Amino acid sequence: MDREPGPSVRLKLTLSYAGFLMVAGALLLASVWFFLLRDLPDVKNGIGGLQVRKQLALHFASGAAAVMVFLLVFGLLGGWVLAGRMLAPLARITDATHQAANGTLSHRIRLPGRRDEFRDLADDFDTMLARLEAHVAEQRRFAANASHELRTPLATSKALLDVARSDPTHDPGELVERLHAVNTRAIGLTEALLLVSRAEQRSFPRERVDLSLLAEEATETLLPLAEKHGVGVETDGDLTPASGSPALLLQLTMNLVHNAIVHNLPDGGTVRVSTGAGPGTALLTVENTGERLTPELTATLTEPFRRGTERLHTDHAGVGLGLAIVRTITRAHDGTLTLTPRPEGGLRVTVELPAP
Ligand SMILES: Nc1ncnc2c1ncn2[C@@H]1O[C@H](COP(=O)(O)OP(=O)(O)OP(=O)(O)O)[C@@H](O)[C@H]1O
Ligand SMILES: [Mg+2]
Repeated sequence: MDREPGPSVRLKLTLSYAGFLMVAGALLLASVWFFLLRDLPDVKNGIGGLQVRKQLALHFASGAAAVMVFLLVFGLLGGWVLAGRMLAPLARITDATHQAANGTLSHRIRLPGRRDEFRDLADDFDTMLARLEAHVAEQRRFAANASHELRTPLATSKALLDVARSDPTHDPGELVERLHAVNTRAIGLTEALLLVSRAEQRSFPRERVDLSLLAEEATETLLPLAEKHGVGVETDGDLTPASGSPALLLQLTMNLVHNAIVHNLPDGGTVRVSTGAGPGTALLTVENTGERLTPELTATLTEPFRRGTERLHTDHAGVGLGLAIVRTITRAHDGTLTLTPRPEGGLRVTVELPAP
């Protein structure tokens, strides 16, 4: 916003200090005159008394004027110094806001001293800067990772086409098949990215959904995959009402059950999907057997493009967006997502949503 320049706060404070000092001084002098000097008994009566009174008044007035001039100078100087000291933290805060406005988010004010209004403001500002910086870094990482992941299928297609061009005897059927697979993966990735951004914008209608029905639907859809991986799936739970987008919540459940199946033991693993209503909340828990996970690794799994163990060349080459999508959808529904490694191996994921 463009504003007209005005007097500085320091100047205004100085003038008010000096003003108050003058008013207080004037009042003091007036009361001295009024209560002490005016009623002096020996100057009360007679012509001679009047003369003395006049002289006294003159004398008092000149003394008072000198005092007032002194107070004015003292008030202005003292006020200027005091206001400067009071407002010093503001200069640091202003400097930091200017830097932030110019795009430098790494600067912190870090005002020393004990707590007061300025320190509170500075601390809140520092917290806000830290959050903003982390958010921007996360967005940048996301964009970099997304471009990198999208480049991979394109580069693979190009390599396939190059090989086909340089070798005309190559089987075109195989080429088409492989190109098709690469293309499908790229579409899947793009759709996942779109899903994340749509859930982040929270632009979806909310309706009443029953989590137990979603769990059933997800497990039923993924049953063939579970059979292929030799994983047994159990579901239990009664009516668990929540409010939100049925499509997004189904996606969330599918991602969790999918993970529980594919990141399980090589053979004979199990998955348990349970739902239940707590006080004011709706809970969805997906638990699976599998490799042992450390709490440190578990804490990073919800980051986009994070794959726990790098096995890009197995038949399940995930992109690492499944849990990031779950996290985004949970947040968009004002819920919380908790990942806990199971002591005996595998993972327990809990989604807690507010009850409608
Ligand atoms: N239920 C689970 N049990 C054990 N590990 C898991 C489980 N769910 C996720 N993980 C680990 O977390 C990582 C990230 O999971 P995420 O779903 O985000 O990506 P992904 O499954 O690798 O790929 P996709 O984008 O296809 O889902 C996985 O690579 C896996 O190592
Ligand atoms: Mg996954």
